[in-house]
Amino acid sequence: MSKMLVFTEFGGPEKQTTVHQEVSSPRPSQVAIEVKAAGVNPADWKIRAGDMGDHWKLPAPMGREAAGIVTAVGADVEQFSVGDEVLGTAGKGHGTFAQHTVLDAHQTVAKPEELSFADAATLPVAGATAYDLTHQIELEPGQTMVILGAGGGVGVMAAQIGNVHQFNVIGIASASKQELVESTGATFVESGDGATDRIRSVAPHGADLIIDLVGGQPLRDIASVVKDAKNIISSADPTTAEELGGSGVQRTSEGLEKITEVAKYGLVDPHVSQRFTLDDAQQAVAAVEEGHTAGKVIIEP
Ligand SMILES: NC(=O)c1ccc[n+]([C@@H]2O[C@H](COP(=O)([O-])OP(=O)(O)OC[C@H]3O[C@@H](n4cnc5c(N)ncnc54)[C@H](OP(=O)(O)O)[C@@H]3O)[C@@H](O)[C@H]2O)c1
Repeated sequence: MSKMLVFTEFGGPEKQTTVHQEVSSPRPSQVAIEVKAAGVNPADWKIRAGDMGDHWKLPAPMGREAAGIVTAVGADVEQFSVGDEVLGTAGKGHGTFAQHTVLDAHQTVAKPEELSFADAATLPVAGATAYDLTHQIELEPGQTMVILGAGGGVGVMAAQIGNVHQFNVIGIASASKQELVESTGATFVESGDGATDRIRSVAPHGADLIIDLVGGQPLRDIASVVKDAKNIISSADPTTAEELGGSGVQRTSEGLEKITEVAKYGLVDPHVSQRFTLDDAQQAVAAVEEGHTAGKVIIEP
């Protein structure tokens, strides 16, 4: 039996509950794992709230990304064996806030031994998204990348990738995240009223790219700093980005492999700031749902 966090109906946190279920066998293109760590993402509560459609079969297991040890492989899977350490994305109908889960083998890679399970668990969703966001429009070294929401799960890794590429990275976040944002190599700019003037004071010629991890009015407020509105890329709010002339992030199949390689060489550090046990998984989701976490929140069963 596997303990796991599910939601029983679409709605608020009160719809979440812990259940015990039989451990599932993997389908032909899946692998089953013992979960060592799972990353918590805004999508976890947004799916539960019904913000991402109603096509989830209820009760729906929660959690999208994890790292762990392979316990069974599907018939078509040749690249993994029982006992391998891996990181990947949950298969359809499965969740990673669990003792055991099933991953989609096409979205799973071997865990480099240099990476802890905790750090590895942050790469399949947050890390791969940071990779895709920073590569959708290729900048040259020295060009200016503004990151709105630079102190969060995706933002920290996006800023670190920008630094590796020698972009001029400007990270926008609340004052409590100044040290964290600066640790990525970015120039810190405080969010809120007047952010546009503060960006202009450190980038008088404007920005070549805005990476948006917040959306809504905060994105509208700073959009004028980008030289070409096409270069607004959002993972938080594609609708607003498109209204402004930009676009939503296009997720790629190579992002996970690439970010894992980058992390293996120590070029990104996901900055795991809070760790919860599976018994406290609801607190982990609440921390992310509050919307101001620093770096990544993980659950370790
Ligand atoms: N499409 C995809 O495949 C995909 C994948 C991953 C994530 N996403 C989306 O991308 C977004 C970011 O994800 P994440 O994991 O990085 O979230 P997160 O860890 O919650 O980080 C968001 C950050 O935004 C900051 N923030 C909140 N309000 C702000 C404001 N008004 N101005 C400036 N910063 C503000 C928060 O901290 P402070 O307010 O303290 O600065 C927080 O650090 C979410 O909307 C998520 O759903 C999409």
